Amino acid sequence: MNSALIEAAMAARERAHAPFSGFKVGAAIQDEQGRIFTGCNIENASYGLTICAERTAVFKAVSEGAGKLKRVAVVADTEVLTPPCGACRQILWEFCGNAELILANLSGKQESMMLAEIFPRAFDATFL
Ligand code: THU
Repeated sequence: MNSALIEAAMAARERAHAPFSGFKVGAAIQDEQGRIFTGCNIENASYGLTICAERTAVFKAVSEGAGKLKRVAVVADTEVLTPPCGACRQILWEFCGNAELILANLSGKQESMMLAEIFPRAFDATFL
């Protein structure tokens, strides 16, 4: 079950546009109907306009009419598994809530956690 999501993230990673950092990341998100939405990091010569793989995947899912987002996989080629950056944690929380987050690398190492474990005491719409 997780393997299909990780494979989708790996395939997305291959499509990363990362000519400046050389650091390719892939993400895949599954909704409650089982649909999978993928994303890769897309860099820009102005650097600050770069978007991470996770946010690409979330925005694609939302714009394509995904249902409730249940699980997220992130793949990078690092021995220490790459976690989402701070900005992506905020966006993931907004759209996925306390979803399962699976981190994986290209050597088959993987780890699963809940988003709240790496993003405690989140600010969200409940405060507004
Ligand atoms: N990056 C991601 O896409 N996701 C992460 O979780 C960490 C960082 C990207 C942004 C940039 O293109 C490159 O990795 C180096 O920071």
